[in-house]
Order: sequence, then structure tokens, then C-alpha cells
Amino acid sequence: MNILITGSCGFIGFNLSIFLLKKKFKVIGIDNLNNYYDVKFKKKRLQLLKKYKNFKFYEFDLADQKKVDFFFKKNKINSVIHLAAQAGVRYSIDHPKKYVHSNIVGFHNILENCRLKSIKNIILASSSSVYGDKNNFPLKETESINPKNFYGLTKKNNEEMSEIYSKLYNMNICALRFFTVYGEWGRPDMFMLKYLMSYKKFDLYNNGLHFRDFTYIQDVNEIIFRLIKKRNIGFSVFNICSNKPFKITRVIQMIDNLFYRPKLKINKVGLQKADVIKTHGSNKKIINYTKFNKFTSLETGISNLVSWYKKNQ
Ligand SMILES: NC(=O)c1ccc[n+]([C@@H]2O[C@H](COP(=O)([O-])OP(=O)(O)OC[C@H]3O[C@@H](n4cnc5c(N)ncnc54)[C@H](O)[C@@H]3O)[C@@H](O)[C@H]2O)c1
Repeated sequence: MNILITGSCGFIGFNLSIFLLKKKFKVIGIDNLNNYYDVKFKKKRLQLLKKYKNFKFYEFDLADQKKVDFFFKKNKINSVIHLAAQAGVRYSIDHPKKYVHSNIVGFHNILENCRLKSIKNIILASSSSVYGDKNNFPLKETESINPKNFYGLTKKNNEEMSEIYSKLYNMNICALRFFTVYGEWGRPDMFMLKYLMSYKKFDLYNNGLHFRDFTYIQDVNEIIFRLIKKRNIGFSVFNICSNKPFKITRVIQMIDNLFYRPKLKINKVGLQKADVIKTHGSNKKIINYTKFNKFTSLETGISNLVSWYKKNQ
């Protein structure tokens, strides 16, 4: 089975590719290796992926329609896992165009090729950001969605495009609303790795009073693996979360207990206007659907991440 993973050199795409390659799937990766964060991370991940014989890689931008069309002409794809996107909530305040480029144009090029080539199974990365600020915790997938930043809006649009395509063209499209995924080979622009990589100063937004429903990367891999095996789902949305929000100050304590940096100064800064105060999703629907219920505790996930960081820093 040939699986296309877009964004294969990104955090989730890389980890999922390795997971599936070890299970002997044929993985075809696409990534434009953009410089949203240090390209060294992406190149290092690619170097590791290339060690697998069952991995094939193409470097191009998904917003380039001719290249995407050519790719689908040349490759037989059975299933698509679309993870490529311009990520980042705060970055979307000053760079909305990048989100239209990758998340709207790029995704539509994928969707349209899937329609034309009768590729019926697509898994798509959406985000908890589609919800916006809410009080009704834990948030169920049936909750109304009101993104408060442009990033979340593009993800909402991805879900809407998918629903229409699924209904009109009889495609199985599963949109996964990821809640703050963390773990080995993570993103240096996201809180956990950014904090671990700080030795002198760390900007702590909203005095660390945010709550985030942290989700460990290996749980994400296992859930997607189970979803690949399911068919005939039509259009469906799932929260991918551990259903256990933690305050950022608590997470900092947990990391400090394992990796204390005596010279690190915390610089408290205000609430950023694109940020939501709390994320907390219900994971009942994905548990019922996949029977995956062994979510990794935050203690274990952080301990794995810190061990990995100490080895790889
Ligand atoms: N990590 C999280 O906590 C989280 C939370 C919610 C949603 N998501 C979503 O999950 C997906 C994966 O996230 P991630 O954390 O791995 O992000 P990431 O930035 O590490 O990975 C995305 C990858 O896509 C590539 N890419 C971006 N635009 C592209 C384009 N136009 N053409 C080709 N490649 C392109 C990037 O180079 C990058 O390697 C994204 O869609 C993201 O929005 C992630």
C-alpha cells in the first residue's frame, strides 16, 4: 500500500513516517523544506527517513499546481495523509498570506488530484484552533467552531472543503483536530522544545496561566495507524487529545525537575491576541472509533522528550 504523507519532514509527518515505515508500509513523502523554523531540523529528519528503502521523497511546494499534478500522474497513491501546512498561531497574525498559500491553495491541489485520480482515503490535519475561546469543556466535536486567528480559519476552511468533496465525490475524509502535540523531534517554535532549548531567557506568555491539552506524538502515530485501516467513513472529524489539560507553569516545573538550567531567566509577557486561554478536548469519539485508549501520561511523555533532547541537543 502506497501512502502519501505530505509534510513528511515536519514534526508529526516525520514521526508518523518512521512509525509506518517500520510497519513496512511504502511511504512517499512530500515537503518543501521551508524555513518557518530552522531547516536543519527538517534536513536531519529527512536524512533519517532516507535510511529506509521503503521511503521515497519529493521536494516541492504543494501550492505549485503543475508540480502536484505531475506528481499524481507519476505515482500510484492508495491513501493520503495530509500534514503539510503553514503551522503556528502567532505567526499567522503577521503572515496571513503564507496560510492561504499552503493551507488553502496547497490543500486544494491535493484534494482535487485525489478526486481526479479516485483516491478515496484521506486523513487531514486540522487543529484545536478551529474552536476558538470556549468554556464548555471538554470540547466535543459537535461544539460550534469560531477560530480566533487566521491559522484556525484556514483549518476550518480545510474541514469545510473536505466535507463538500466527501459528499459530492464519495470520498472518505477524516479531519483530525490535533491538540498541542509534543514529543521527540518536536517543533522548536512550540512551547515544550522552545523551553528546553532556552538557556538564558524564556518569554512566558500570559504568565504561564494557559492550559493546554498536551498530546504525545506516539499516541498520534498509533491513532493514525488505526484510522488508515478503517474505510467508508465519509466525512468525519475527530479530536486528537489526551483530555487532560495542564497549566503551563506546571509543565515548566515538570521539565525543570528533569532538566534544570540555573541561568535561565523567565521573562513574563502578556497574553498574545491570537492565543486561546485553554484547550481541553473530549477524546471519547476517537476512543470509541479506534479503541485506542492508552494515552501516554504527561510525565512519561516529558521524560521521553527530555531524554531525547539530552542525547540530541
Ligand atoms: N504540532 C501540533 O501541535 C499541531 C497542532 C494542531 C495542528 N497541527 C497540524 O498538524 C500538521 C503537522 O504539524 P507539525 O507540527 O508537524 O508542523 P511542521 O511545521 O513541523 O510540519 C509541516 C511540514 O509541512 C511542510 N510544508 C508547509 N507548507 C508546505 C507546502 N506549501 N508545500 C510542501 N510542504 C509544506 C513544512 O516544510 C513542514 O516540514 C500541520 O497541518 C499543523 O497545522 C499540528
